[in-house]
Amino acid sequence: MARSAAIRPAPLASAARSNNFVTWAPTSEPKLSAVQQNPGPPPPVENIGVDAVLRQNVNDPESHTTTIFQEFSLEGQTAVVTGGNGGLGLEMALAFVEAGAHVYAIDVPEQPSEEFKIVAEHCRIMNRDLKYISASVTDDKEMNDVMAFVVKDSGTDSMDICVAAAGILGTADALDYPVDDFKRIFDVNTTGVFITARSAAIQMHKQKNVSGSIILIASMSGSIVNRDHHWVAYNASKSAVLQMGRNLAAEWGPKGIRVNCISPGHIRTRMTSVYLDANPHLLVKWSTSNPLGRLGRSSEMRGVAVWLASSASSFCNGSDIVVSGGHQIW
Ligand SMILES: NC(=O)c1ccc[n+]([C@@H]2O[C@H](COP(=O)([O-])OP(=O)(O)OC[C@H]3O[C@@H](n4cnc5c(N)ncnc54)[C@H](O)[C@@H]3O)[C@@H](O)[C@H]2O)c1
Repeated sequence: MARSAAIRPAPLASAARSNNFVTWAPTSEPKLSAVQQNPGPPPPVENIGVDAVLRQNVNDPESHTTTIFQEFSLEGQTAVVTGGNGGLGLEMALAFVEAGAHVYAIDVPEQPSEEFKIVAEHCRIMNRDLKYISASVTDDKEMNDVMAFVVKDSGTDSMDICVAAAGILGTADALDYPVDDFKRIFDVNTTGVFITARSAAIQMHKQKNVSGSIILIASMSGSIVNRDHHWVAYNASKSAVLQMGRNLAAEWGPKGIRVNCISPGHIRTRMTSVYLDANPHLLVKWSTSNPLGRLGRSSEMRGVAVWLASSASSFCNGSDIVVSGGHQIW
């Protein structure tokens, strides 16, 4: 493995800003008036599944309805997704929008990517919110200000869902890993995840009915070592995220805030394309490292993210959901 420095550009520590963040969102009037494609608000807990069936009037055909898709609804909720300018973050952001949430993507560049703009325009046409805020997860004050801003700007006065997906990858032999690169990876992948989760949780704790779902994007590399890849900083930073998830789940669970991790396997995004393009043999190596015989698609994060964000996973706390095609079972 080449002894290159961290692959993602250094996140710029943004200068302190006022609480009025500039959001990027398409501006024209929606083309469609009222598109309702999501399943509406989730049903009350006592009216789900078998209990709902037992309560219904057997003689009234109208009362024979299904509740499963409503449990996945994020109708009217407010969500933030760090690293949402592309890759897995943007996929999860779009899935949340489709499930009914007001979504804010947070990422480093001052302006969103072309990919983001096209997706946000798609959301605008459907009369839904996908906004972009430039900020760094490494800046505690900035993230606190962003979360407070989002609560106000969303018009919901709430913070319901937070996904900490911002991350960087780097490689170097452990014997001469540049310490500054090592620290930079921990700064974004571990401390940045903590700053993100805490700044969202501060807002969730302010709500009258404290509640929320926080999803930390770890990696299968937090639990296994990727064979032949010298990723000691990245892998250790992701192990730390897994343990952080358990600690935060224990501290905030009693208040009604659930914290879970997702551990993706190999998925082609900008992060992994750097390796795959420079080392074409890795496509076969990574694909044959799991029983499904392929890389994952970013869109395969949609279901698990919406499930963890929604009331469909209401008893899931402190878990790590591995989405790897089974990479780690061999
Ligand atoms: N792609 C995979 O195979 C894979 C596998 C396991 C885990 N992951 C994890 O999934 C997450 C998303 O990665 P991806 O594959 O979509 O890569 P990606 O590079 O497309 O996305 C990562 C995003 O994080 C942003 N970012 C970096 N530093 C930041 C900072 N300081 N503040 C805010 N944003 C910052 C980047 O600008 C980028 O948009 C990462 O945490 C990554 O470690 C990815």
